[in-house]
Amino acid sequence: MRQDVMNRQAIEERLAQIDLTLPPPENEPDRQYYFMKKLRGWVSEKKKELGRPLYANITTFGCQMNARDSEKIAGIMQMLGYEETDSEKADFILYNTCTVRENANLKVYGRLGQLKSAKQENPGMVIALCGCMMQEKQVVEKIKKSYRNVDIIFGTHNIFKLAELLSRKIFDSPQDSEMVIDIWEGTAEIVEELPNERKYPFKSGVNIMFGCNNFCSYCIVPYVRGRERSREPEDILAEISCMVKDGVKEVMLLGQNVNSYGKTLEKPVSFAELLRRTEQIEGLERIRFMTSHPKDLSDELIEVMGNSKKICRQLHLPLQSGSSRLLKIMNRHYSKEDYLLLVEKIRRAVPDISLTTDIIVGFPGETEEDFAETMDVVERVRYDSAFTFIYSKRTGTPAASMEEQVPEDIVKERFDRLLARIQDISAEKTAEAVGSVCEVLVEEVNKREASLVTGRTDKNQIVHFPGSPDLIGTFVKVRLVSAKGFYFIGEQTE
Ligand code: 5AD
Ligand code: SF4
Repeated sequence: MRQDVMNRQAIEERLAQIDLTLPPPENEPDRQYYFMKKLRGWVSEKKKELGRPLYANITTFGCQMNARDSEKIAGIMQMLGYEETDSEKADFILYNTCTVRENANLKVYGRLGQLKSAKQENPGMVIALCGCMMQEKQVVEKIKKSYRNVDIIFGTHNIFKLAELLSRKIFDSPQDSEMVIDIWEGTAEIVEELPNERKYPFKSGVNIMFGCNNFCSYCIVPYVRGRERSREPEDILAEISCMVKDGVKEVMLLGQNVNSYGKTLEKPVSFAELLRRTEQIEGLERIRFMTSHPKDLSDELIEVMGNSKKICRQLHLPLQSGSSRLLKIMNRHYSKEDYLLLVEKIRRAVPDISLTTDIIVGFPGETEEDFAETMDVVERVRYDSAFTFIYSKRTGTPAASMEEQVPEDIVKERFDRLLARIQDISAEKTAEAVGSVCEVLVEEVNKREASLVTGRTDKNQIVHFPGSPDLIGTFVKVRLVSAKGFYFIGEQTE
């Protein structure tokens, strides 16, 4: 994990200006810098007292948005003086949760149960929970009742307040078992200029918007992430420029529905326009984005993608179902035909683009005919890869009260059939690519075989090839020698 150098300097300057003898300021982000400074002093004392570092362990469930939020949290913890660790024998444990499907919730409860004995061993341990699951009232009630070892709960809108909440736990109620709970319903605020961290020095996610207004009938995200709001383009571009000066070569622009970026701004800016401006940042080499909603993917965007040298030849375009009948009930605002037409247009503008998707099996009322339509789209589009999900009933969504839930055994059988076909097509496509030469951004030493390094092509394919760790963070021309499942073995060509 690392901080942008420029960001770090700016943070130190801000911290230096804070006077802890005064009450905390009301305005953000100054208020958070006040609590960061206060906690920093406490962490440094605590380290001396214990004769060892203080460790923070952060676990992320769910999507890229959560991954990025966790990087921000890690940035704050690092500023406070904590060291990050993979072990749950830590002084601060945080689960950044997901609730898009029921099994994500179950995993968190399981992990919380396991933490009980760890906290007995280290009573100073602070356990914090945040993320989408915490925006559900019944979840917070359950934790208050059954998981008393949790210290702090916050939601998806107030991640920037972590230092303040931790201060409350440490300075205001250190001994008692009072949980610090702060969940926001309001969603208007976007606080900029906080510490930020990223996992890789050479690539990073960048939030361009938060929330979702689409209310797909199966999906809980609009309820837990709130209404759609976009960051100002100037803030986004300044953040990316700062990252690029610090060595970032690839960015992933993140949002639940990036294609509707900018609509809520005082001076609206289209996503295509944001991409055009991002492309002009000197030194930035690759641009990715996710997730796209087919209903909002404009001709303007397709044109920008077609003309761009930096936008990667990769598009994640969730289908959800191939049945126009179900798509209507899902509230997706496109038909099977619209989707196929869109794919055709995109392929015309960007030949050889890698297409990936999300598909749900077993949505209420899904018939064999509906499912056959999904299989038909899979055959026609030939996705490079796809995430397949079994429909999960989410309390509060319109689909949860739909009758005709599909029997489990039928869903399972359809799911297996779909997955097998997707994997076969994916293997066929990777086999077709063998022999070609690609530019690979090298990311790390191979986890299993230290003589290999691992990177990604612009189509987001994973390639392992013999090479030295010096190559990490650089672009290398690699010939794809063989395909294994969804990844390649390659060799450097120059
Ligand atoms: N059940 C199963 N899958 C879901 N997704 C969203 N909500 C549900 C649900 N209730 C899937 C969609 C979405 C992806 C992130 O998760 O396919 O694109
Ligand atoms: Fe959920 Fe639909 Fe919004 Fe995606 S677009 S987050 S599936 S409601």
